[in-house]
Amino acid sequence: MRVGVLTGGGDCPGLNAVIRAVVRKGEVHFGDEFVGFLDGWRGVIEDRSMVLDVERCRGLLPRGGTVLGTSRTNPYKVERGEQRAVETIEAHKLDALVAIGGEDTLGVAHRLAGAGVRVVGVPKTIDNDLSATEVTFGFHTAVQIATEAIDRLHTTAESHDRVIVCEVMGRHAGWIATYAGIAGGAAEILVPEERFDIEEICRSLIARHAKGRFASIVVVAEGAMPKEGTLEVAAAELDQFGHPRLGGIASRIAPEIEARTGFETRVTILGHVQRGGTPTAFDRVLATRFGIAAIDAVHDGAFDQMVALQAGEIVRVGLSDAVTKLKTVDPSLLHDVAGAFFA
Ligand code: F6P
Repeated sequence: MRVGVLTGGGDCPGLNAVIRAVVRKGEVHFGDEFVGFLDGWRGVIEDRSMVLDVERCRGLLPRGGTVLGTSRTNPYKVERGEQRAVETIEAHKLDALVAIGGEDTLGVAHRLAGAGVRVVGVPKTIDNDLSATEVTFGFHTAVQIATEAIDRLHTTAESHDRVIVCEVMGRHAGWIATYAGIAGGAAEILVPEERFDIEEICRSLIARHAKGRFASIVVVAEGAMPKEGTLEVAAAELDQFGHPRLGGIASRIAPEIEARTGFETRVTILGHVQRGGTPTAFDRVLATRFGIAAIDAVHDGAFDQMVALQAGEIVRVGLSDAVTKLKTVDPSLLHDVAGAFFA
């Protein structure tokens, strides 16, 4: 078979491991040939690609980022986008396409499947907010990086009797904030799923410090929002998929905490450091399992489907199931587990 491969959306540790697994099993086991499209759907629309083979994939397993490049280009926001994508796929005589991406990339894959493209999806996002799979690769790495950062922030906060507000990624869901917050012993965790009350947070920090602790780490997901009418937050600009460009809520919260509690407060925004660098062993294994399962799905003709992890097993689910609903943080994890250590 001739198979196209692309990576779309924000990059994520483990993308290269998926590419390597798809190509390895495809070439060696099935005798496939591969075309790697550059920069996500943009490369498909513009017909920009590179040859992918086992030789080109050497050394990819531990490498962060994606050798194919990525973008947030949405063919459905580009003139004749769908038609151009279909033309490219036909020009390369492709039998199938493997699209590795998050909600937006897989949403496009699902629409293209409706237009007759034979596509299999692989779920990716450090945010871990894709439905139908228990976890996405990249999440474990991001949590590990954020936890290590929080550990470091603890010692400097303790030395100076400070509050440090640590902002992590998490646009619609606070998975990274919750996991890294629990693993790093955060005093407060703010997530997009529940609007926060700055006054309540300050009261809780004051109560905590009254018990003899003089340093606190507040972990905030970039998508966390205050309760209506409690704190003004500037609106962010939108990207091609209509998502706000987030980042900076920590800088809004920190001066408020300092003013309302009197505790000296600092800000650390982890940003893209959470997405860069080598994947953890867990993510390398998950990405490899997904890649193998994706090329198997191609050969089984399981199109318009995505590989997923459920109860420890790799399964196939309809792409529509993956993109219609976001997977958000279980409130009991936040309140009963993380919350047991607040105040
Ligand atoms: O979607 C994953 C994500 O990491 C979000 O948490 C974040 O808002 C976004 O990517 C930022 O991506 P970029 O700066 O690449 O647009």
